[in-house]
Amino acid sequence: MVDVLLGLQWGDEGKGKIVDYFAPSYDVIARFQGGPNAGHTLYVKDKKIVLHQIPSGIFHSNTVNLIGNGVVLDAVTLKKECETVASFGVDYTQNLYISQRTNLILPTHRALDKASETLKGNDKIGSTLKGIGPAYMDKTGRNALRVGDILDKNFTTQYIRLRLKHQKLLDSMHFNEDISAWEDEFFEGIEFMRKFKIVNGEYFINEKISQGKKVLAEGAQGSMLDVDFGTFPFVTSSNTISAGVCTGLGVAPQKIKEVIGVTKAYCTRVGSGPFPTELHDATGEELRKTGNEFGATTGRPRRCGWIDLVALKFACMVNGVTQLVMTKADVLDAFAELKVCGAYKINGKEQTQVPYQMTKVDIEPVYRSFNGWKQDISKLCDPAGLPEAMKYYVDHINNYLGVKVSYISNGPGRDQIIPTL
Ligand code: GDP
Ligand code: IMO
Ligand code: MG
Repeated sequence: MVDVLLGLQWGDEGKGKIVDYFAPSYDVIARFQGGPNAGHTLYVKDKKIVLHQIPSGIFHSNTVNLIGNGVVLDAVTLKKECETVASFGVDYTQNLYISQRTNLILPTHRALDKASETLKGNDKIGSTLKGIGPAYMDKTGRNALRVGDILDKNFTTQYIRLRLKHQKLLDSMHFNEDISAWEDEFFEGIEFMRKFKIVNGEYFINEKISQGKKVLAEGAQGSMLDVDFGTFPFVTSSNTISAGVCTGLGVAPQKIKEVIGVTKAYCTRVGSGPFPTELHDATGEELRKTGNEFGATTGRPRRCGWIDLVALKFACMVNGVTQLVMTKADVLDAFAELKVCGAYKINGKEQTQVPYQMTKVDIEPVYRSFNGWKQDISKLCDPAGLPEAMKYYVDHINNYLGVKVSYISNGPGRDQIIPTL
């Protein structure tokens, strides 16, 4: 069977830490979408590591990791990441597999991303500039090069053909930066990748499932960044929701069992786009400071605000979430008052549905206030010790969403997690 773990907000919910925590109970951890736009933070031997493309099970020697076909892969980033994990004694040549159908990010995809964002000016998406959008465009446009192609002797010719096509586009967008250094690195990365276990990902994963092995599909980004269901056009270019697991790994829907949704105890967003509960005041600043809310991939300050149950309920619905993990609860320790958004007021009317185009309407969040717990929870490990005010806050969320929080994460450390059911 396959369980899924994914983010329910706008990314950075703490997925990496939670996957690392659950990994010992799984045989395979598989990434099914996204690419180096992701930044998943883990602590190994008290050292911080940010993974971008390698699944977060890599530090567990009994767990096999697969980069699935739904991912767009940057060979340069992969090489760097592999060097980092190797410095922790991980033999990635043994426990990391790549699907041959995984699409490649080319240096020109990164250039196109940059050129496109520049042209958009104030309307820019705030992309991570990793080439994600252009790479997925080449996938659906049926032009892309895939990992399996690097084993073909005509790979360079195919690359040059696509590069020329991109060059015309870049010229039309008046992009004239010299990217030859990126190209050198790219070919080094491709050479490095040729040594990998490149597999038929769909057979690989289905054989594991038939053998009764446990698979955890690790999401990147978050449901509100999904290309179909997120705050379009301020989204990423992949299906980040649970449905993406089927197309991104080649597993049938009936193989999916648990869908574990990760949410922060509050909410953040990085990049442009609507964020109804965003706080532009001292409280928002306090959340950013206490939560150390700066992007793991780009270092940009994250926008911060209160938890938004309207958006979370929508995310639970489109994903079929069966259990919740609430992260960064400790960040709220010092707050005297907490707010929870339970409805949106649009044109004077309250509603509990996410509107079609959040960008086109004026949303006023309707809040309910809660007392803060004003207590350090970061050292707790027994749910019985959780403050009453916190139980009340979490109960309200459980009841509103109709799904229960089964774990509360109370710090970035590997062991800072409390089972609550
Ligand atoms: P991901 O992209 O969903 O994996 O999340 P990121 O790694 O981008 O961002 C989450 C940040 O919060 C990282 O710096 C984590 O180390 C940190 N983090 C995760 N869980 C907790 C928690 O429960 N409490 C605190 N204080 N930090 C956490
Ligand atoms: P993880 O996996 C937070 C955001 C970008 C931008 C939009 C589109 O760490 O949660 P893209 O580069 O995908 O074209 O950017 O999506 N974004 C993320 N925000 N966490 C992420 O990943 C993100 N990946 C992309 O900031 O607004
Ligand atoms: Mg992240």
